[in-house]
Amino acid sequence: MLRVGIIGYGYWGPNLARNFHRHPGCQLKLIADLDLGRLQKAAADVPGVHVTASVNDAVNARDIDAIIIATPIRTHFRIALAALKADKHVLVEKPMAASVSDCETLIAEAERRGLTLMVDHTFLFTEAVQTMKKLAVELGDLYYFDSVRANLGLFQRDVSVVWDLAPHDLAILHYLVELPVDAVTATGACHAGSRVPNIAYLSLELGGGAMAHFHVSWLSPVKSRRIVVAGSRKMMVFDDIETSEKLKVYDSGVSIKHDNEDGEYRMQVDYRTGDMVSPALANREALQSEVEHFLRCIDRQEKPLSDGQGGLAVVRVLEAAQRSLERNGERVLL
Ligand SMILES: NC(=O)c1ccc[n+]([C@@H]2O[C@H](COP(=O)([O-])OP(=O)(O)OC[C@H]3O[C@@H](n4cnc5c(N)ncnc54)[C@H](O)[C@@H]3O)[C@@H](O)[C@H]2O)c1
Repeated sequence: MLRVGIIGYGYWGPNLARNFHRHPGCQLKLIADLDLGRLQKAAADVPGVHVTASVNDAVNARDIDAIIIATPIRTHFRIALAALKADKHVLVEKPMAASVSDCETLIAEAERRGLTLMVDHTFLFTEAVQTMKKLAVELGDLYYFDSVRANLGLFQRDVSVVWDLAPHDLAILHYLVELPVDAVTATGACHAGSRVPNIAYLSLELGGGAMAHFHVSWLSPVKSRRIVVAGSRKMMVFDDIETSEKLKVYDSGVSIKHDNEDGEYRMQVDYRTGDMVSPALANREALQSEVEHFLRCIDRQEKPLSDGQGGLAVVRVLEAAQRSLERNGERVLL
């Protein structure tokens, strides 16, 4: 029975707490937060849980085997490193840390101690993304990955929309498409008095000539959560706003022939519009699958689906995007 402590009980922490609390393979023993009001809520939500305002006590508690970190991004590194140094397994919120070097330090510390280090890239544990992963081979050569994640809110004080929302889609890209990122360009803007960009567009050049594009925004009148992945044989669309048929796979494509017979240039374009299939997806909360996966990885010493390397890959792109944003969209090579 793995004994778990959660640090950070703001917006996202309660979702993690609910899923760890109800899983029969672990015991949620402790919740820490600097805010006493949040601790009162934690005590009311999770009967019998020990609450504390001391992060130090939480990471060093002898009766805790794993620490879950759901605090603001700037605190991830310090808390995760302290937890690893206290020999605890760690599940840290996305993005893993605020810099590539911090991620590398965490990975090295976890490896040295033989501990599980996992990043909460929640979407990887959705039935939709798991199904996309299985179907990705049918797409042929990747042409592009295009995503929109826009909403009205939640404006953040200290991190831009890039660090807040793009980790989700970057993690999905990294998981589905095993291609290196060669270069990143990013542009964005601050509106309505925001001091950090609340809208941004990221373009990634991927190995093999493919490209990926990400539109992230806290300032959209409608909520959009859509990913299009297009390959040489098929294309798929994941629309998370849809209540049914969230994922659609299109047997569609185009082939172009050029010829120069009789000295006259011709271009022949053949469009193929075949069947559309919408695979049935089980209705299961991603965090439930993720908690199970975390516990299994610790128990069997397996590599997590969203391990430190996956977290690092995402932060590497975020760091490059940040640099590009600060230089008005300059192309940053990785
Ligand atoms: N996986 C997802 O889908 C998802 C969704 C939302 C947020 N997140 C991530 O979760 C993390 C937290 O986001 P949030 O929206 O819950 O933020 P939040 O501000 O609502 O909550 C953070 C909580 O941490 C507490 N806190 C701050 N500093 C602390 C410290 N040093 N020690 C202990 N407690 C501290 C705050 O009092 C607050 O209660 C972020 O990394 C964010 O990116 C992930």
